[in-house]
Amino acid sequence: MRISTVLPLVVLASATLLGRNESAVRCPIIFDGRVLTNLTLAALDTTTSPYSPRYVKGENLTWSSIILFPPTTTPRSRFDTRSIHKPFEVTINDSSIFRAGSSGLQVGFRRAGLLLADDANPVGSDAADKGVVTFHWSVRQDEHKPLNLSHEYMNVWHEKAEYSGNQFTFVGGVVLKQDGGGGGNGADTPEERNSWKVQDANNTVVFRTPILSTGWQNFAIGLDYANSTMQVLYSTNGAPLKAVTAAVPNDNSGGGQLQLGIAKKPTETESVVYDGYQESIVGSEGQIYGGVFVEDSSGGCVSV
Ligand SMILES: *[C@@H]1O[C@H](CO)[C@@H](O)[C@H](O)[C@H]1NC(C)=O
Ligand SMILES: *[C@@H]1O[C@H](CO)[C@@H](O)[C@H](O)[C@H]1NC(C)=O
Ligand SMILES: *[C@@H]1O[C@H](CO)[C@@H](O)[C@H](O)[C@H]1NC(C)=O
Ligand SMILES: *[C@@H]1O[C@H](CO)[C@@H](O)[C@H](O)[C@H]1NC(C)=O
Ligand SMILES: *[C@@H]1O[C@H](CO)[C@@H](O)[C@H](O)[C@H]1NC(C)=O
Ligand SMILES: *[C@@H]1O[C@H](CO)[C@@H](O)[C@H](O)[C@H]1NC(C)=O
Repeated sequence: MRISTVLPLVVLASATLLGRNESAVRCPIIFDGRVLTNLTLAALDTTTSPYSPRYVKGENLTWSSIILFPPTTTPRSRFDTRSIHKPFEVTINDSSIFRAGSSGLQVGFRRAGLLLADDANPVGSDAADKGVVTFHWSVRQDEHKPLNLSHEYMNVWHEKAEYSGNQFTFVGGVVLKQDGGGGGNGADTPEERNSWKVQDANNTVVFRTPILSTGWQNFAIGLDYANSTMQVLYSTNGAPLKAVTAAVPNDNSGGGQLQLGIAKKPTETESVVYDGYQESIVGSEGQIYGGVFVEDSSGGCVSV
């Protein structure tokens, strides 16, 4: 009898904390990239940040100058809890040129890519590189800092530890032929420009959906390392995630790390990294993120 009187109180407490659109994370969290409402911009340059303060950004820029906290923060994305988490916006401009050690400036890209602090070092084998794991993020567009979708934008990916490829890639805009698209080949159509694509380890598109100019788009990708499959889940705004692909075969080997932000690729390029065309950006371009986390889906647990 005591349990039945206590339980409703517990449910009520969490229900008042969560907004109407929001859902609690149900499974053990491996990496939490959700940003606390009290996190300051300055903290992004320190180890207090859930993301590595060092990588992967314009060589003279700091994360506190790259990230914005959008003033319009309601409703929250589905897995951000009101009054606890807030969305954040990753921006790029003409200074967003990364220097990759001895291989030099990556002048082909305009790049601002976050690495989860605990995933960044060492690169390779951690709890998100084995078992069954679901990677979650939500995006929304900033009408004042639009992307130029004639370019390919690689915004979320899980990159192999040896940088030889990605287990999955989330891209917007016109995908270059080097990345499995038709870029430069009459491929710059409104349908191609204005869609998100999820690619498998072979760069084959397994899911495609329009880029919405308003509201949240929620994505999750499950990797089953034991059975070598990937599965995409998707919803908009406050709707629960739904599987939009089957668990399709995928080569999930190679370990690595999740990257999240903006990597704007050039057009008219051979090497993608070191040459090609990038128009001068007026002001900056931005991509808003919320609800970033990685959960342990062993036993079939997935937060929807
Ligand atoms: C890009 O943005 C950074 C951070 O706000 C700023 O310091 C830099 O001057 C900007 N670069 C250009 C070319 O506008
Ligand atoms: C920020 O908020 C979290 C939880 O909402 C709390 O645990 C933490 O102490 C706060 N940090 C600061 C610096 O106030
Ligand atoms: C960073 O600053 C140095 C020194 O001023 C400059 O030589 C270099 O070109 C800058 N890098 C970028 C990507 O703007
Ligand atoms: C968008 O990118 C294309 C391809 O690089 C370029 O031709 C066009 O001028 C860009 N548009 C804007 C508004 O910068
Ligand atoms: C792998 O596939 C087998 C056979 O389809 C299934 O029984 C098993 O539950 C799957 N493993 C996981 C971790 O989902
Ligand atoms: C990926 O490409 C390789 C090499 O062409 C092929 O053997 C494999 O079946 C492909 N995997 C998927 C899931 O399509």
